[in-house]
Amino acid sequence: MTAYIYQVKIADLKINKRMSASEKDTQWIEKTVNYVKKELTDAEGGHDWWHTYRVWKAAERIALEESTDATIVALAALLHDIADAKFHDGDETVGPDKARRFLQSMDVDAGITEHVVNIIKHISYKNSLEGETWSSPEMQVLQDADRLDALGAIGIARAFSYGGFKGRTFYDPAIPPQLNMDKETYKKSTAPTINHFYEKLLLLKDGMHTNTAKAMAEERHAYMEGFLKQFYAEWEGRV
Ligand code: ADP
Ligand code: NI
Repeated sequence: MTAYIYQVKIADLKINKRMSASEKDTQWIEKTVNYVKKELTDAEGGHDWWHTYRVWKAAERIALEESTDATIVALAALLHDIADAKFHDGDETVGPDKARRFLQSMDVDAGITEHVVNIIKHISYKNSLEGETWSSPEMQVLQDADRLDALGAIGIARAFSYGGFKGRTFYDPAIPPQLNMDKETYKKSTAPTINHFYEKLLLLKDGMHTNTAKAMAEERHAYMEGFLKQFYAEWEGRV
């Protein structure tokens, strides 16, 4: 009997310890949501709070099938686009530095902070063109979730929103897509938005790391192919 009570007490202690840890994590995540919403108030449509929200939700879903730390996945998803280099004269250190300062201001454990900062540093597609130099299971989940948001109906909306923001034409049959661009050419490209489908969007499906994201990408990829078929048919007045 005594032994039984003792066991229950130990179990209670363990549960309490876990609860308080997860309560702390929940608080970090809630504070981060508020911070990021504020930071992204004036962001362009493709990288606004709702992009962050979608990446966060997709990352949570992908992470269900992976062995990852849920807090790192959530914090990295929330902070991954707080300062896109595209909008800071190409400076790729602004985002990671801001994220580090914010996490430190909440007293997040140093290990978690460094992991999240590393994910933010390395997640960009442009960086992956130069060969990935650092990775982790959490990083792979995040990269898959971020890339998924460039696919499907949302991916199409984002591409044309970005093209409009940059003042690009939809399509010009005289300007063919350029495959195998290096990082600098990719950044400088002013090609029509449709070219971006061939230069990036239709290539993303094959670069997914996790099985869940691969399946999601297949579905979104097929949707974009249908869109392109319809687009060309309408362009020539065939439908
Ligand atoms: P990452 O942040 O992964 O480096 P980007 O910032 O290049 O990726 O892309 C973010 C979003 O903007 C994606 O949805 C992408 O399709 C869109 N985008 C980027 N470049 C272009 C472009 N040249 N034309 C149309 N859409 C673009
Ligand atoms: Ni992103």
